Amino acid sequence: MEIAAVYRSYVVRVLVITGAGVSAESGIPTFRGKDGYWRNLDPIKLATPEAFARDPELIWQWYGERRHRIRDAQPNAAHKAITNLAQCADEFLLVTQNVDDLHERAGLAKGEMVQIHGDIFVTKCSRCDFEQDQEHEQERNDVPRCTKCGALMRPGVVWFGESLLAREMERVENYLQRDPCGVVIVVGTTATFGYIIDWALRASRRGGELIEVNPEETPLSRFATQLVREPAALALPRIVDQMINS
Ligand code: OAD
Ligand code: ZN
Repeated sequence: MEIAAVYRSYVVRVLVITGAGVSAESGIPTFRGKDGYWRNLDPIKLATPEAFARDPELIWQWYGERRHRIRDAQPNAAHKAITNLAQCADEFLLVTQNVDDLHERAGLAKGEMVQIHGDIFVTKCSRCDFEQDQEHEQERNDVPRCTKCGALMRPGVVWFGESLLAREMERVENYLQRDPCGVVIVVGTTATFGYIIDWALRASRRGGELIEVNPEETPLSRFATQLVREPAALALPRIVDQMINS
């Protein structure tokens, strides 16, 4: 496959940014959608260091259930279309806010993506730098403790009020600084964080297409050159097909 001739001059460098909406059709509830609530609790309030300090057991139960749901879920047509696009682009980066592994299971290489809010299958110490990959560990009900320092272990995700992981941010910055992008696609995110809008605008700064795929309006919408008000699994395969020749 190769990039269609009409896009050839500018589609070669691609940035895709995804949020919870890209996994919605795989059955993973979004944060701010109506299915996001867990036991009547608002996920926006659960995903905080304060909630963990108050009730680590409760927070672990929530993450345990989310891990479970993600393991049972399958990547959808949107994840696959993004992998397809990555294989056709000369240079490609996915920045995902999702902590699930559905992009990876859809075949996208780890080197082509940055999980800017962390990875739900990592368990890390709340005090020292110890971390472990829990993907294949059995589920447990007690709160795990660090084998190095004894402090409580926590999920390897970024919570509200915490700063982004420096090494992940650096990978995004490096990609943006090298050259502008011909195509930027932002999918399934409310774009509530300033850095999401900032990255999308900087990447498309030299006349690149800025395509938003989201059934709802977001703060990014007014900057987009193309608005696609459809579910991601419906729209993305078509958008990617139009960009590439097979
Ligand atoms: P949100 O739950 O805030 O937003 C989901 C977005 O997806 C909304 O804009 C929906 O309109 C859209 N959406 C829903 N279904 C869709 C579909 N089938 N196709 C396309 N779009 C769809 O999720 P995020 O924007 O990802 O951070 O949230 C950003 C961050 O806030 C999360 O990473 C998490 C959260 O709190 C942290 O935990 C730090
Ligand atoms: Zn520790």
